[in-house]
Amino acid sequence: NIDVPRFCFHERLSVAGNCRMCLVEIEKSIKPVASCAMPVMPGMNIFTDTPLVKKAREGVLEFLLLNHPLDCPICDQGGECDLQDQAMIYGSDRSRFYELKRGVEDKNLGPLVKTVMTRCIHCTRCVRFGTEVAGVETLGTTNRGIDTEVGTYVDKHFVSEISGNIIDLCPVGALTSKPYAFTARPWEMKGTESIDIHDSTGASIRIDTRGTEVMRIVPRLNEAVNEEWLSDKGRFAYDGMKVQRLTSPMVRDEETGALVSTSWEEALGKIGNYLKSEGRRDGIRAKGVIGGLVDLETAVSLKDFLNNASDTKPVLQTEDFGSRPISTDFMNDVSFGSTIAAIEEADLVLLVGGNLREEAPLINARIRKKTLQGNFEVITVGTGSEAFDENPFQSSLSSYNFDHTPSPVSLADLVEGNCPELSEVISNAKSPLILYGKNCIDDSVTMPYLNQLESILQTVTQSDMPRLNFIHPSAGSMGALGVGYNTMTTSGTLSTLHRKSNGDLGVDHLPNFVYAVGVGSEYAGFSQTLEDECRESNAFVVYQGHHGVASELMLDIADVVLPGAAYTEKNATYINTEGRAQETTRALFAPSLARTDWKILRALSEVTGSPLPYNNESEMKCRVSSYVPSASKPNYVVSPTIKGWDVQGTARVRFDTHAEKQAKWMNQNLRSSAFYQTDIISENSAAMAKTQSEFVDQPLLERINAHVSASPEEPLVAVGK
Ligand code: SF4
Ligand code: SF4
Ligand code: FES
Repeated sequence: NIDVPRFCFHERLSVAGNCRMCLVEIEKSIKPVASCAMPVMPGMNIFTDTPLVKKAREGVLEFLLLNHPLDCPICDQGGECDLQDQAMIYGSDRSRFYELKRGVEDKNLGPLVKTVMTRCIHCTRCVRFGTEVAGVETLGTTNRGIDTEVGTYVDKHFVSEISGNIIDLCPVGALTSKPYAFTARPWEMKGTESIDIHDSTGASIRIDTRGTEVMRIVPRLNEAVNEEWLSDKGRFAYDGMKVQRLTSPMVRDEETGALVSTSWEEALGKIGNYLKSEGRRDGIRAKGVIGGLVDLETAVSLKDFLNNASDTKPVLQTEDFGSRPISTDFMNDVSFGSTIAAIEEADLVLLVGGNLREEAPLINARIRKKTLQGNFEVITVGTGSEAFDENPFQSSLSSYNFDHTPSPVSLADLVEGNCPELSEVISNAKSPLILYGKNCIDDSVTMPYLNQLESILQTVTQSDMPRLNFIHPSAGSMGALGVGYNTMTTSGTLSTLHRKSNGDLGVDHLPNFVYAVGVGSEYAGFSQTLEDECRESNAFVVYQGHHGVASELMLDIADVVLPGAAYTEKNATYINTEGRAQETTRALFAPSLARTDWKILRALSEVTGSPLPYNNESEMKCRVSSYVPSASKPNYVVSPTIKGWDVQGTARVRFDTHAEKQAKWMNQNLRSSAFYQTDIISENSAAMAKTQSEFVDQPLLERINAHVSASPEEPLVAVGK
């Protein structure tokens, strides 16, 4: 418990030993020693508080401050700066340097990370993070002595899906957040501990707010999930929550066809009237659809509400899984059952299809860490179907090498023993894991092979630990499946429930009451089907969500629009891809008339005359845990074994076949290239739009090259605009 000051040392990075701030005195050593780089040995006597150590620290700080600008009043790091703090505690009270300070040109690392390189103290944490964690070897040091600079060698963006972490790592204000620049000081903000919902990992975060505004989002330490990293989407997309918000209930004007703002009473009354109108209850064919960001409480209350509203069993769907309904008898059928932290113990990971960097950047970072530690193999295989052979896991996009893999290898080849080299690696593994994403679920060829592969692994390892790990496409999808929502069917109709006795679908197969929560994102991929269905059946449509969307569902079709709360504005439960129940915490109130989603449904149930049986958050949580028992145990991961399921005779992931692979593939492909904008919040985020544009759609360098070759005489500054 003795504090040793340091700048360059970081628990998750290699030891560099270049700041010398951690000097201590060791008995029999004539000079002070950099403690971070000195292995402990038996019989060593170490002193951290002697006059020599004090003088050494003063000396180091004096050198560091020689060329450090007097920027504190205008520096975004002010108030949370290691250099400021340590200079106050360990530094001298005067300086002996009267020369001019050096200046270093700032680097352009992209739209997310701001640089003021004159403040850099050359700790190289950012360089080591890039090389060791992110797998992006863009940063490095050039020159020596007073000319030393940290930069990108040649002008280049720091393109990584987890690039924002270098902001937290930088002990000074050399690397700060561009979107947050000059907007707030740390002491003005209130920090609220919560979780990220931009992917299914559920990283722990802290939401810093000032008044009614989210000023920034930073990661929190959670060894089991995100260690201390956060993906760029989770960190920077918060500005999307400040625009395009629904702030008032709206109803459609029957004459003009436009949506007009109204009171809650009128909006809920309109829905209630429709549901209560004469003979309606019999005739209501209800459908509930929830988006990928919807929390467990809302999923449960929507299901309860629709069950109450009609004599006919409602159809419940969630987006994101594509065209294939899956069985969810056990949540572990479709979870990362071995836990994310189990990657640390694994010696082999099989990645099947997909691109982990985009689907789960933080899980990818763990795998990369393991690859650097050695004794760890990564095998990637294509899924084996026609659609996916074209795009097996792309090693060129990965942040680590898998030299091992002859490419392309299909899953079928692997299972059928057509790759002896890989089969040998698998049979030698002691703790192998399979990771697969929703691309596999959409592919009827893949899953049987995956199940076979898992059986092979179980035999090899003789262990009960689940080996098959699913990476969910969104934060809400695991919870939605647990509550009983189906994945999207191609038709999206009520056909399976309402087929007439003679087998005809008739007109009754379409819903006449549709309640959509949090759907309509451009990237959701199924709005069109839903829209067509609503139009065809002339259904009464309620759209509830925190954002207004450009989809026809809200703009042209919805009869009533209700404003909900974003994840920063409510206490809500999400089940991450491991099956771990985690909660968001309300950091601020929802804007204007927007309200927490489940409370809207509770209020509506009062209007329709059959109130839902929960009146407060604790009663709601009880109800939620009756659907998903683990939801009442925060951070608990349910982990029954595969063998246990077999005993109960339960099928593993099961598929009905619906083709349209090609269309789906296009959708997946498009989506996988849109890492920075994959949901309603990031879709509305200016920071993410800019990053998507500069990093993915049209990288700056490409634009410059295209411009130069097209019109060499025009000055480059035009491109800069
Ligand atoms: Fe001040 Fe720290 Fe900024 Fe340097 S990095 S100017 S010491 S706040
Ligand atoms: Fe260290 Fe920051 Fe300089 Fe990088 S930019 S070397 S993290 S001080
Ligand atoms: Fe030991 Fe920097 S922390 S040399």
